[in-house]
Amino acid sequence: MKNNPNIQKQTQDPTVSALRPFGTSIFTEMTALAVEFGAVNLSQGFPDFEGPLEVRQKAAEAIIRGPNQYPPSMGIPALRQAIARKMMRFYGIEVYPETEVTVTAGATEGLTATLLGILEPGDEVILIEPAYDSYAPIASLAGAGIRFVRLAPPDFNLPLHDLEAAFGPRTKAIMINTPQNPCGKVFTEEELTIIGDLCVKHDCYAISDEVYEHLVYGGNTHVTLLSIPSLRQRGFLVSSTAKTFSMTGWKQGYVIAAPPLSKAVRMSHQFITFSGQPALQEAMAMAIDSPDSYYGELLGSYTRKRAYLCEGLKELGFHVLEPDGAYYVLADIRPLGFEDDYGFCRMLPKEAGVAAIPSSCFWKERSCARELVRFCFCKKDETLEEGVRRLRKWLAK
Ligand SMILES: Cc1ncc(COP(=O)(O)O)c(C=O)c1O
Repeated sequence: MKNNPNIQKQTQDPTVSALRPFGTSIFTEMTALAVEFGAVNLSQGFPDFEGPLEVRQKAAEAIIRGPNQYPPSMGIPALRQAIARKMMRFYGIEVYPETEVTVTAGATEGLTATLLGILEPGDEVILIEPAYDSYAPIASLAGAGIRFVRLAPPDFNLPLHDLEAAFGPRTKAIMINTPQNPCGKVFTEEELTIIGDLCVKHDCYAISDEVYEHLVYGGNTHVTLLSIPSLRQRGFLVSSTAKTFSMTGWKQGYVIAAPPLSKAVRMSHQFITFSGQPALQEAMAMAIDSPDSYYGELLGSYTRKRAYLCEGLKELGFHVLEPDGAYYVLADIRPLGFEDDYGFCRMLPKEAGVAAIPSSCFWKERSCARELVRFCFCKKDETLEEGVRRLRKWLAK
């Protein structure tokens, strides 16, 4: 048997070539290091506190009461209607829950269903770097080529010439993320309009990941892709309840798009997960309808956490890039005498008892932004205080 080459081929690494370049996610690696060294985990973006009690109670009650069978593939009507109401309430946009809303297993599956639903092998997708880690692997799995448009620190301005140059005859879609992880950029209406005009010119789609839509600071406002007239019929809005309700483990996301576009999403969604969990969907419908005070308190709390972490890191000597949105801070490590974000983050859990993410993992070229480390502030106040305390103690040595 050992000499049979076919058998050896089957038992070696069966991972498809499209996925091999991506390796194990740095988030997994950093969280594992945080656990190994008992570090304060400011790396992966999940809260260390629970979401609203009444939402969890509603889910528990719905599980006991039932039904617990497959809900409709596109999501239960109550949740799709709540999502449509929310689009009118926050953005003044009319959305049809029957034909335009699809509930997915988190934004991650929403993005996957969208890309697998619209991409043909040989198509091209434009990604704006820094890009969230799931975009490129999904596009690759779909057989698409990727063109990157690079945003550079410290301002992360959209380079219009590079953006225009990235569009070509094979472009099927451009993906944006606003507010953007990890840099906190919030796309303006003007920038989205430029993107919309390019999509019209090149007859392609825009996909917008808006999972941090309710976390925008200072004088900034979240502008959703679907509010741009040129993108209403060619835009896919992907969002999630994970960040807004501090329940990342529930994986309740959704895609909103015009009916023909939603049809493509639903076609692939039915073969990926088919459906979500009915009790969690019922509870999320209730959560989305929360009063304004809920959304206001969420933003107030994150505004304070952002200020605390930015100030704390500044006092320690980091050069801090204050984010306009999302819940991450990029900190320049050069003033502390370091140069390499990977080396810094691999050493930090053991030496300082704190975990962070090397920001260059969000760029294709690891030479970009090597001086920046990402800390998240979606943590209890005492966790952030302990993180800053440990960094201070380590730096004082
Ligand atoms: C930009 C971005 N998109 C998507 C996700 C994942 O969303 P979900 O948990 O709903 O799949 C995250 C999580 O960190 C994110 O930062």
